[in-house]
Amino acid sequence: MSARMRTRHFTQAKAEGRRFSCLTSYDAPTAAIFDQAGIDLLLVGDSAANVVLGQASTLSITLDEMLSMSRAVAGATQRAFVVADLPFGTYESGPEQALATAVRFMKETGVAGVKLEGGVEMAPTISALVKAGIPVVAHIGYTPQSEHALGGHVVQGRGSAAESLRADALAVQTAGAFAVVLEMVPAALATQVTQELEIPTIGIGAGSGTDAQILVWTDAFGLGDSKAPRFVRRYAAIGEIMLEAAQVYRADVENGTFPDASESFEDHK
Ligand code: KIV
Repeated sequence: MSARMRTRHFTQAKAEGRRFSCLTSYDAPTAAIFDQAGIDLLLVGDSAANVVLGQASTLSITLDEMLSMSRAVAGATQRAFVVADLPFGTYESGPEQALATAVRFMKETGVAGVKLEGGVEMAPTISALVKAGIPVVAHIGYTPQSEHALGGHVVQGRGSAAESLRADALAVQTAGAFAVVLEMVPAALATQVTQELEIPTIGIGAGSGTDAQILVWTDAFGLGDSKAPRFVRRYAAIGEIMLEAAQVYRADVENGTFPDASESFEDHK
């Protein structure tokens, strides 16, 4: 296993034109698998609210829930750079609140950085975290914590909105973010922003011109019954494999073939 990923490795990758891979992770077993697979950055996303806790939006997930999952993911990795999402309501009041929340992640979970949603308006907050020594990934474009303000799951930066997205990208870079997620942005705009920035862009629904890609792992590997968005490619059907395994297990229990003698204890050693 190679050395732990650091922010400078992402900066270097961009400078050398090497793309890198990111996935979400919410627990120790998946984190260990993705780490072994060489995924460079694991995000403990607040998408956990949807795909782990079964909620309709990301807004309801709590700081305590995110702290527990972050501890599990960070503890199970040896190489990946682990980033935790700051949950809704724990950072928007300003730099002081954000710093208090981010410090809890850094002290209590072992993650290497945090992610927060917002562009120009979040620049002072990003700057405060970076000054405190906390690596920050920014997240612009479609920002799920603002889904109600944005009017639902809608592509951002189309037409005249492109300029404000470019301004957001520049603002988070100037504030010190070491990378920025571009979610649901037209591919041509994401490519343009990627060329304009020195920091790496991490795309999700932003086409192939970004420096990196991220997907919610349950969407990409087929776990759960939610319809995956158009930008997701399905790499596996884990849900189907688990369904079949559970059905075989159930049948084995019901017909008495599990457990057999080799799976049982005898009276003597
Ligand atoms: O919470 C999450 O999973 C995210 C990714 C979609 C980038 O923010």
